[in-house]
Amino acid sequence: MRREAEAIGNLVEVAEIMPRIHALRDEGPVLKGRLRELLGLPLHERHARAAGRPHWTVLSFEAVEAALRNAAVFSNSVQGHDNPAGEKTMGILEMDPPVHRAYRRTIQPRFNMPEAMGWWREHTIDTIIERLIARMGRGDRADLNLDYCARIPVYTITTAIGLDGDEALRFRHAYLNSTSSSRTVTMEQRQANAKIVESTVLGLIARRRQEPKDDLVSFLITMKLLMPGEEPRALTDREIMAHVKLVMVAGGGTSWRQMGIALYALLTHPEQLAAVRADRSLVDDAVEESLRWYPTAPYFYRMVMEDTELYGHAIPKGAVLELGLGPANRDPARWERPDEYDLFRPKKTNLAFGFGTHRCLGMNVARVEINRGINALLDHFPNLRLDPEARAPFMTGGLEQQGVSGLPVLLR
Ligand code: HEM
Repeated sequence: MRREAEAIGNLVEVAEIMPRIHALRDEGPVLKGRLRELLGLPLHERHARAAGRPHWTVLSFEAVEAALRNAAVFSNSVQGHDNPAGEKTMGILEMDPPVHRAYRRTIQPRFNMPEAMGWWREHTIDTIIERLIARMGRGDRADLNLDYCARIPVYTITTAIGLDGDEALRFRHAYLNSTSSSRTVTMEQRQANAKIVESTVLGLIARRRQEPKDDLVSFLITMKLLMPGEEPRALTDREIMAHVKLVMVAGGGTSWRQMGIALYALLTHPEQLAAVRADRSLVDDAVEESLRWYPTAPYFYRMVMEDTELYGHAIPKGAVLELGLGPANRDPARWERPDEYDLFRPKKTNLAFGFGTHRCLGMNVARVEINRGINALLDHFPNLRLDPEARAPFMTGGLEQQGVSGLPVLLR
């Protein structure tokens, strides 16, 4: 993550950015310009469809929530890439209502909380956690960020989709190289890897159409798409593939980094870690507070679909909004001492998983992964603590993706 941010000139000192964000928010909840311009960072085009358009940056909780509520005016269509076939490259993430709703309903039932606590946990999450704990338990030290947090979500997603063994490994490798923005991966390599990803998923769909199993692809094959004004119909192979690719891109790195951030929060606040160790019902609060404190994906974009007014700014059709979910989560108008990690603060919704139409499909799965991951560590390593001889961890990454530099720990 740090290398990727460096490669595109986007590395920021995460801890140093927040005071500057607070100062900008003091100027107004909505500001003209890109956040990068306002912060004096080099420009980087995250979404090709946003290029060359006027931008506004939104930084207060109230204003970000208001924009997320209004999907008719503030559209997610900015988030895809244009491809020759005119397909939705980012699946439901770039769709608007009512089409978005019709497609989301074909996958949503697998992602509600009972499914996350039941099917996902039993099918994948507990298995990988057990294996990783056993492997780490052979030593005295570990880097939890790489040896543990990184592995749980990627295994969870690929296994849930229906891939296993060597095929899952090949798929993960090809997937990472097809989406990498690193300069060391050439365009030809990216395209070759994208082909491997597509042929692997299409091959899997074909096998499951012949012989269904207990996995996400087999589930999607059974679902009916109810588009307004049309007859219900089954999803096509390419529609199933769009769901699968989005779930891979949205559900691997995010849960990894957020689990790292939650553990970083606890390990650097030993009195709160001790409280959680003594009362496991606090694990959920610890995770929610980590999401408020440092949401791993703190900025999302919207395309403005009609001339509108937002907090005193006349914003024309065709402009782009940069919504600061991270800054909204640190808004002092909503939280006292917003920069402190305090799992005991009064419970209030934060925006780490977004809000409204596109609210994270995988949030229940992510919560269960992180909750189970932390509980298992506390069960098996009662003395778990940061390794005092290793470099102290710190928050790092670019504006759009943040995580912890590492989590070197002593296990005994
Ligand atoms: C802690 C980890 C995670 C965080 C912080 C996170 C954050 C988010 C956010 C902020 C959005 C809204 C984007 C927008 O409004 O434009 C989103 C959407 C989404 N997330 Fe997550 N996510 C996480 C984990 C996951 C996981 C584990 C999965 C899948 C297994 C997943 C799948 C999705 C999908 C499919 C969407 C698009 C939903 C839609 O457009 O209707 N996410 N996520």
